[in-house]
Amino acid sequence: MCGIAGYVGSKNAVEVAYDQLKRLEYRGYDSAGIAMQTPDGIRVVKKAGTLNHLRAELDAHPLEASCAIGHSRWATHGGPTDANAHPHFDFDQTIAVLHNGIIENYLELRDELVAKGHTFRSQTDTEIAAHVIGLEYSQGGSLLEAVRRAVKRFRGAYALVIISNRESETIVAVRQASPLVVGLGEGENLLASDIPALLPYTREVIALEEGHLVELTRDRVRLVDADGRELPIVSKHIDWDVESAERGGYDHFMRKEIHEQPQVIRQCLAGRITPEDGVRLEGTFSDNVWAEIDRVNIIACGTAYHAGLMGKHLFEKLLRLPTDVYYASEFRYGDPVLSQKSLAIFVSQSGETADTLAALKLCKKNRIRTLGIVNVVGSSIARECDRTIATQAGPEISVASTKAYTAQVIVLSLLALHIAQVQETPGLRVEEWAQALRDLPELASQVLELEDEVISIAEKLVDMPLCFFLGRGADAYVGYEGALKLKEVAYIPTQESPAGEMKHGPLALVEEGVVSVFGATEPFTFDKVVSNMKEVQARAGTVLGITCDSTGTIAKAADLTLMFSPSRFDFLNALLSVIPMQLLAYHLARLRGCSIDQPRNLAKSVTVE
Ligand code: F6R
Repeated sequence: MCGIAGYVGSKNAVEVAYDQLKRLEYRGYDSAGIAMQTPDGIRVVKKAGTLNHLRAELDAHPLEASCAIGHSRWATHGGPTDANAHPHFDFDQTIAVLHNGIIENYLELRDELVAKGHTFRSQTDTEIAAHVIGLEYSQGGSLLEAVRRAVKRFRGAYALVIISNRESETIVAVRQASPLVVGLGEGENLLASDIPALLPYTREVIALEEGHLVELTRDRVRLVDADGRELPIVSKHIDWDVESAERGGYDHFMRKEIHEQPQVIRQCLAGRITPEDGVRLEGTFSDNVWAEIDRVNIIACGTAYHAGLMGKHLFEKLLRLPTDVYYASEFRYGDPVLSQKSLAIFVSQSGETADTLAALKLCKKNRIRTLGIVNVVGSSIARECDRTIATQAGPEISVASTKAYTAQVIVLSLLALHIAQVQETPGLRVEEWAQALRDLPELASQVLELEDEVISIAEKLVDMPLCFFLGRGADAYVGYEGALKLKEVAYIPTQESPAGEMKHGPLALVEEGVVSVFGATEPFTFDKVVSNMKEVQARAGTVLGITCDSTGTIAKAADLTLMFSPSRFDFLNALLSVIPMQLLAYHLARLRGCSIDQPRNLAKSVTVE
C-alpha cells in the first residue's frame, strides 16, 4: 500500500527517486527513505514524517548517484519512526531492501535469524526479509538469483526492491500480490508501485505479474519467473493523464477503493490466520486479561460505528459477550456506566476523529482498558489506546469510506475469533472460520462482477425520491452503512431500519417511486423478510433484494435482485452484501452528476467535536 520508486540511468537517481515519491504523496504515508549506490557503498537516508523531512536530510548532505530506490511508508509492523522507515539493510549492509505488503511468516523467520545471531535495528518484517535475502546472497551468485531463492521462504503479499553494493547500476525487484510497474526509458529504466510515479519519465510500462522478478540496469530489463526462466518483455503504452493515473485508471477514488476490497481483505488477514495457530492477533492483551473482560463497549462515528455494530453482532453470537455500540459523540456526554472489567474498543479509519478521541480520553481517565482498531497507525487514537490493531486497508482517499469499513469488520471478526480461541469457547469452528475468511477475497471479487447489473439497476432507479435500507440482524446493520453511502455521495434521502420495524411507523413513507433495498443473507429470517417485502410492494414501493439465497425465495419476492455466491458463514455474507450497496451509491451519484470523492459539506477527517 506504500509508495515505491526506483531509477537507474544518467540523471541523478536520488532526485528522480525523490520526485517519484512526491508523485505518490497523494496516497498518504508516514515516513520515507531513499537508498543509493555510492562509491563508498550503499547510503540510506530515511526519516519519519513528510517528504519535507527527507528533503531536509538530503539537502544537508547532497549526493549524486546513478542508481537509487525510494519508499514512502504507511506503517504496519512498527510505528512510523526513522528506524522503521525503509529501505533496510541486511546484516552486513551489502544490500538495501524496501517493501510493500506483509511477510506473514516474519516471526518464524526472525526466530531462525536470532538463533543464528542476527540482531535488528527496526520492528519491521522488511528488515527480516532483508536479512533472509542477504544470507542467500552471501552464498554467491547474482542478486536476482539470491532474491529468487529467498522469496520461496516468504509467505504473504509483497513487492520487494533491492540494490546491492556488489552489482552497481542494478535494481532487482519481485512482486507477489502487491503491485509493481516497470517503466522503460532511453538509457534509463525505472520502477514504481504505481503508474503516476513513472509518467514524467516514460509511458512504456510493464506491469509485473504474480511471482515474477525483474532486473533493471540503465540499458536492459530482464524478466524471469519464479523458476528463473527468462520471460519476453511486453510493454504497454499508457495514455492516462496524471490525475486518472493516480486513481489507477478509475474515474473516482471511491470506485477504485471499492474495487480494492478483495486485496484489502487479503492484506488485513495476512499473518493473522495461520494453518498452525488458527487466528493470531499480535500485540493485543494477554490471555488472562481476556478471561477477565465481561463487557465490551465499541465507540466510533459514522461508518466506523456501523462496523462496530457488526462487531457487536459477532461478539454476542460467537462469544455471548455483552457488547454495546456507542456513537462517540453521545458516549462522551452520556455519562456511561464504566466498569473496570469492561473493554472499550475505538474504531477509526483516520485515528484522528475528535469525538472518538474525546471518548477515548474519558475511558483512560476512568482507567478502563482501551483497544484501538485503526487504519492510520501513527494517528492519535492508535497512539493513545493501550493496544491497537491496524486494519491494514491502506490509505483511503475518497471521503466516503468503503474499504476501511470492510477491513474494520474483518478485524472485529478476527478479534472475536481470537478471544474465542483464548477462552476455548465451546462449539467454535476456528478452522472453518479461518478457511471462510481465506475464501473471502475471491468471493468479494465475484461480488464486484455484479457491477454491470448494479449500473442497469441504478439507471432505472436514478430519480427515486427516497430509499429504504432494510434487513434483519447483521443485514440491518449493513443496511445502515448502505444508506449512509447513498446519502453521502448521491444525496438521496434514506430511511434505514430493521425490516420488522417498518410497520411501526416508517411504512407510512412508502408510495410509488420509493425504493426499498433489502439485504437478505440469513436464511432463517427469509420468510419474515419476504413478508416485509410484500408490505412494501402492497404500497406500490419497489423492492431491490441483495442476497446470496440460491433457493429463489428472495428473488421471487423482489422486483429487482442482485445475487452473489455465499460464504459458509451468514455473517460474512452480510459483509459481502455491502459491496453492491457501495456500488449502487457510487453509480447513482455518477448518474446524478454528484461530486463523488468530495461530497458537499463533508470532510475525510473530522477533527472538531
Ligand atoms: C462515511 C465516513 C464517516 C467516517 C466517520 C469516522 O463514509 O467516512 O462517517 O466513518 O467520520 O471517521 P474515522 O473512521 O476516521 O474515525
